[in-house]
Amino acid sequence: MQPQIQAFYDKPTSTYSYVVYDALGGHAAIIDSVLGYDPKSGRTDTASAQKLVDFIRERKLTLDWILETHAHADHISAAAWLKKQLGGQTGIGAKITLIQQTFKQLFHLGDDFVADGHHFDHLFEDGETFPVGKLTMKALSVPGHTPADVAYQVEDAIFVGDTLFMPDIGTARCDFPGGSASELYHSIQKFYQMPPETRLYMCHDYPPATRGPLYLVTVQAQKSANQHLAGHTSEAEFVELRRGRDKTLDMPVLILPAIQINIRAGELPAPESNGVSYLKIPVNAL
Ligand SMILES: [Fe+2]
Repeated sequence: MQPQIQAFYDKPTSTYSYVVYDALGGHAAIIDSVLGYDPKSGRTDTASAQKLVDFIRERKLTLDWILETHAHADHISAAAWLKKQLGGQTGIGAKITLIQQTFKQLFHLGDDFVADGHHFDHLFEDGETFPVGKLTMKALSVPGHTPADVAYQVEDAIFVGDTLFMPDIGTARCDFPGGSASELYHSIQKFYQMPPETRLYMCHDYPPATRGPLYLVTVQAQKSANQHLAGHTSEAEFVELRRGRDKTLDMPVLILPAIQINIRAGELPAPESNGVSYLKIPVNAL
């Protein structure tokens, strides 16, 4: 059965969220939702995620899964908010525990933050399959950007997370804790070994002024034109290019708030005695 796929672009964070479903009135999964966040005021907003809720309600879909490809550093996940609106189970790659351990240290989180992945309803192992109504979805381990990244495959469609971007943009950075350009090279080879017409759905697009945002490209198109890693690019060539480029990049604007919330599956830190949640800023530590 072919999946129905709807893309949603969140312009402030250049993120694509997806609703994947089997049929009208059937079952759905959300991949990589966005909770808006204004770092100037510390306020969240649900405008982007509300579009997903409206789409799912209009089509009378049952939301089975709220999936993350990884703990994002550039936007906050709306998973916790979506679960309250629509139900469903949250899921992420099993190696999220490594990310939680790393950032538990950076943010000096106490014993009440147990870095065992329990914040998520399910942790996916490499190759694990799971149903979305009549569809079968598969988690693929694709480390490199972070050690815990997964992609999600359903039939000939793959939601690639932060691995490949559109061919004119290239690939995801590999300089976060535990990142590895060499691992990203091998993760992308997993895609490049698939049939040329395989459809790759991007997690982000950063369009130049000459075009609008795009989210869908085939394996064949990536292999022939990806500016960082084409079909003929060697691992050594890619690693050198990726490492050089990563040295020029600033930290994402939202990395400090985003990571603290995303390692908790989109939940804010527990409110203090005045009912307000607080985020930490580690000074001179990242
Ligand atoms: Fe990312």
